[in-house]
Amino acid sequence: MSNKIKKHSPSDYTFKEELGHGSYSTVYKAVDKRNVKQCYAIKVCSKKHIIKENKVKYVSIEKNVLNILRKGNHPGIIKLYYTFHDEENLYFVLSYAINGELLQLLHKYRSFNEELTIRFTVQIIDILEFIHKNGIIHRDVKPENILLNRNYNLILTDFGAASLIDNDEDKENSNNSNATYNDIHVNRASSFVGTAEYVSPELLLYNQCGYCSDVWALGCMIFQFLKGYPPFRGANELNTFEKIVALDYHWNDPNNLVSQSWKDLVSKILITNSEKRMNLENVKKHPLFKNINWNDKEKIWLGTNK
Ligand code: ADE
Repeated sequence: MSNKIKKHSPSDYTFKEELGHGSYSTVYKAVDKRNVKQCYAIKVCSKKHIIKENKVKYVSIEKNVLNILRKGNHPGIIKLYYTFHDEENLYFVLSYAINGELLQLLHKYRSFNEELTIRFTVQIIDILEFIHKNGIIHRDVKPENILLNRNYNLILTDFGAASLIDNDEDKENSNNSNATYNDIHVNRASSFVGTAEYVSPELLLYNQCGYCSDVWALGCMIFQFLKGYPPFRGANELNTFEKIVALDYHWNDPNNLVSQSWKDLVSKILITNSEKRMNLENVKKHPLFKNINWNDKEKIWLGTNK
């Protein structure tokens, strides 16, 4: 008996429709030819494109991050099953989220009621806490990067812009080896990563980014869940950036359809100074979540069969 493990290849799968695409990759639905009931989402990254666009670092971070997170077996993180490559492309075989993007669901409902907003916010907090405890900042948290599984539980995907805080490069460059949970991470890459509407003021103003930058995106998403559109949206990217740094957002809610508690929470997250912004530990203590037992993962992750 040979103990060689057969390498996967694209011919093991039947590629179906496109599920989405990013700046250097396209995600397809695919089925395993040996088990046609098993669906995957395969992210295909063109080697030529990655090299041309200088994205090699991002692709390798994405793979490392997914491998680190896989160990925690968290229900809210996209699972990486295999990676392989051929002459043209790199392939990431990921779990397939049958109910698509959270953004599509939001567009369908126009906005979420407070019950759904609580449920989704609690799941996002649990996910962010998990990745941050693993030293990972996602840096592109937004409703397009959150998927829904069969039970309408959330799954965070697309770690292509992520930053690994505790890597060797950071240790070498940091004069403080005891980086704490709240530390800001000096992002030496000067290019803007992420999506205009959710980008944090510290990235725009100082080119810095920390765990607090994902919390900023959470604040933007809570607003969006309740109103149907994000708090900062200009006619173009520059205009959006100007609104973010000026903290120019409005609830436009003359009939008080959104309760004061939500406005209070969002106002404590959307604070320009990242040191004054609420961190996840304090977000969890907000009165909105008084009925949530943060240790009861089964209840947070309804119907997840794990
Ligand atoms: N769109 C992007 N990634 C996806 C995935 N893993 N499952 C379903 N839809 C997706």
